[in-house]
Amino acid sequence: MSDKYQAFTDSPLGKLLVKNLGLPNPTKLDRYTAGDPLVQGTVLVGGKGRVGESLPGLLDVLGIASATEKADGERYKGLVFDATGLETVEDLVELQAFFTPLLRSLSSCARVVVLGTPPASLEGSARIAQRALEGFTRSLGKEIGKGGTVQLVYVAEGYEDSLLSTLGFLLSPKSAYVSGQVVRIGAHGEKHGADVADWTKPLAGKVAFVTGASRGIGEEIARVLHRDGATVVGLDVPQAASDLQKVMKEIDGDWLTLDITAKDAPQRIAQHLKDKHGGVDVVVHNAGVTLDKKLANQNPDRFGKVLQINLEAPERITAELLAQKVVNANGRIIGVASIAGIAGNLGQTSYAASKAGVIGFVDSLAEELEDGITINAVAPGFIITAMTAAVPFATREVGQRLNAMSQGGLPVDVAETIAWYASPASSAVNGNVVRVCGQMMLGA
Ligand SMILES: NC(=O)c1ccc[n+]([C@@H]2O[C@H](COP(=O)([O-])OP(=O)(O)OC[C@H]3O[C@@H](n4cnc5c(N)ncnc54)[C@H](O)[C@@H]3O)[C@@H](O)[C@H]2O)c1
Repeated sequence: MSDKYQAFTDSPLGKLLVKNLGLPNPTKLDRYTAGDPLVQGTVLVGGKGRVGESLPGLLDVLGIASATEKADGERYKGLVFDATGLETVEDLVELQAFFTPLLRSLSSCARVVVLGTPPASLEGSARIAQRALEGFTRSLGKEIGKGGTVQLVYVAEGYEDSLLSTLGFLLSPKSAYVSGQVVRIGAHGEKHGADVADWTKPLAGKVAFVTGASRGIGEEIARVLHRDGATVVGLDVPQAASDLQKVMKEIDGDWLTLDITAKDAPQRIAQHLKDKHGGVDVVVHNAGVTLDKKLANQNPDRFGKVLQINLEAPERITAELLAQKVVNANGRIIGVASIAGIAGNLGQTSYAASKAGVIGFVDSLAEELEDGITINAVAPGFIITAMTAAVPFATREVGQRLNAMSQGGLPVDVAETIAWYASPASSAVNGNVVRVCGQMMLGA
């Protein structure tokens, strides 16, 4: 699946037209290749607060080169600003003082991460100042250009040492299509230690279960989790059996074919995972469908089917796996929502209800889960797959360009975000819904 407009803007004629007509000019995004260093360049660290002093050490663990002073002529691949020390509204000017002199010294596809304190844990001026960070980072995300991304990470007090997997993801090309997001670390649950012996294989020894794994985003999730060391158990409908087996054989995985809405599906999945794998560490509810129609023309079967596949099945399967204790301690449950569940979309009342429900599913379980099990979701925007290739040209073009990166994302962008949640080192990442949408203008 390719973006023909982006390929055209790379041609000599395309470059000329983009320049003279002011057309969108998507930057070719850096993406991670296994074996590469996480960051190809230096990350400059600044700000004063709870985290700042430990940042160079944390980056060193990840093999990321860092500096604390700007060097003349140097270009930076990333900036991390510790804003946890901004305690009053007057302090906010420090953001401008730090960033303005650096923004012209960034390489393409640069990463900016601002660290803050969750506003709800503070009072008065400090609370106001920390909340203000959200507007700052979301706007900078729309300004940075050249494939750059900007995120805000709210780190709860006491979780300063739980940042490694999140920094590794947000500073590397793994987060190519994630921008303008607010991530919360330590928002729910107790603190669980989690060590990663080898950062190139964080899921070594883990079992990951992925629904809808025969193609599209699910296939890529399976491949990325396998790259990170997991044994993958893929599931899809019986009609997709041969595609599913092909993918699973390529990644030495196991497979299961059934319809997740079948009455006995939760029990069969639980049995399979228990009998063949002794349990599961990562559960990814990716299978999903759209059956779009304006509500005035809708019928109960189509409306109900979307809710059953996208929402009811993940809820029932999760409940069964938890009840039978098939999910191992420090397990990860991951939902796939959608930007439609945040912004709504014409013709998608059923789909958007199901995907907003996935966000509710995260909210409802994040505080309840025990034994270090976490739940998070991704909310993809426009991802180039067989599903979106079928969208009419004009709608597809608008869907692809209406974001800060002027392009659609790739299945691997969703998969990398899921791999970050899945990491044993993401034990403090719980209750998050991160959009993988190139900072889409809708529902921002
Ligand atoms: N492509 C996008 O732009 C986009 C955007 C937002 C969210 N999403 C979500 O990402 C997920 C994957 O999307 P995709 O684009 O790869 O779609 P896709 O249609 O290519 O893949 C979906 C997979 O789910 C499987 N599936 C459907 N119903 C099933 C059932 N009842 N039981 C078992 N398996 C079933 C299908 O057979 C298929 O293999 C979906 O949840 C979708 O809603 C996609």
